[in-house]
Amino acid sequence: MEKILNVAVVGLGRAGWQIHIPRIMAHKGFKLSGVVDPLDERRKEARLHLGVAAFESLEKLFEQQNPDVVVIVSPTHFHKEQSLLAFRHGADVLCDKPMAVTLDEAREMVEAMHARSRKMMIFQPHRAHVETVALRALLREDLLGPVFMIKRRWSRYRVRVDWQAFARYGGGELNNSGAHFVDQLLYLSASPVKKIHCLRRRVLSRGDAEDFAKIIMETENGMILDVEVNFATAIAPPAMQVFGERGTMVLDEEHGLWRARYYDKGGADAIRLQEGLAAENRSYMDDQQLPWKEKNYPLSAFSSIDFYDKCYEHFALNQPAFIPPGESLEVMRILDVCKKRFGLE
Ligand SMILES: NC(=O)c1ccc[n+]([C@@H]2O[C@H](COP(=O)([O-])OP(=O)(O)OC[C@H]3O[C@@H](n4cnc5c(N)ncnc54)[C@H](O)[C@@H]3O)[C@@H](O)[C@H]2O)c1
Repeated sequence: MEKILNVAVVGLGRAGWQIHIPRIMAHKGFKLSGVVDPLDERRKEARLHLGVAAFESLEKLFEQQNPDVVVIVSPTHFHKEQSLLAFRHGADVLCDKPMAVTLDEAREMVEAMHARSRKMMIFQPHRAHVETVALRALLREDLLGPVFMIKRRWSRYRVRVDWQAFARYGGGELNNSGAHFVDQLLYLSASPVKKIHCLRRRVLSRGDAEDFAKIIMETENGMILDVEVNFATAIAPPAMQVFGERGTMVLDEEHGLWRARYYDKGGADAIRLQEGLAAENRSYMDDQQLPWKEKNYPLSAFSSIDFYDKCYEHFALNQPAFIPPGESLEVMRILDVCKKRFGLE
């Protein structure tokens, strides 16, 4: 690669250390130039294992370095200020989700990005996952006829005790996990949202933020997008289901495939409306003969998208953003409506 971008990672927690740094180190277009964490032992660990300069704050890093890209993986309530700081120092930003604590903060980030003529992408990796790539391809084949609903479930049994359990740090599962799946379903539906409904509960969490959230969005192209994040699930339902007029698809995570049951166009044409007020044969149509087909689509036939390739294309090669900031603002708008109109019970 001709151009190698220097990258600084801010936050050496689970996501910074386990998700971002390995990807940066493995990518030929990026060089990890520095890291930031207020914890001394994490900075020592980074110096020892990665051989990079480590700083206690992003301000201190900028005193000595001018990275091309700053990857922000600190607790969510720092995302806005650290992004603004990066833009002021002429760096572009890859910020982990959720973009910020509030919609107003997110808007400020986009305004600052434009004002400083910088670039920013929000790390929403579910768009790049193979099940999303496969589903987009299968939806283009129109197997199921018009799709009227997509359900996405994130089901765990986890008593949250860290900062993500508290609303003041931008925690809560609406922000934390909801941001992933609202983004994923908006991407799949490719249609503006016209109505939003939400339910939030704190079930097991030791903090004050929700660990159950149900978000239902109605899109202008007639879809219902149903996201459920439930950290009090001991037996998990399917992670994803797609409902069309001529069939259903279910994501089978155990076997790594999309399972489809559907019939071809015209398959229900012989079904006639009945006259009168007595159901024929006292039947409720359970015996309707439809030409059902069943087919499995292994995920191994598709490839996931390398998110850092997309970052390189955007930050180094000036190609359009894989996730334009406007789309991330829309995720924040939806989460904001959920929080403001639908209280935590
Ligand atoms: N995209 C994903 O799949 C994904 C997964 C997990 C977390 N995240 C996001 O990444 C961010 C971090 O989450 P995490 O799970 O890694 O948290 P974590 O609790 O594991 O780690 C947070 C780290 O940030 C450090 N830190 C605290 N204050 C800081 C500051 N002012 N500047 C820099 N670093 C600071 C902490 O010392 C710690 O090392 C959150 O916004 C979270 O929503 C994204």
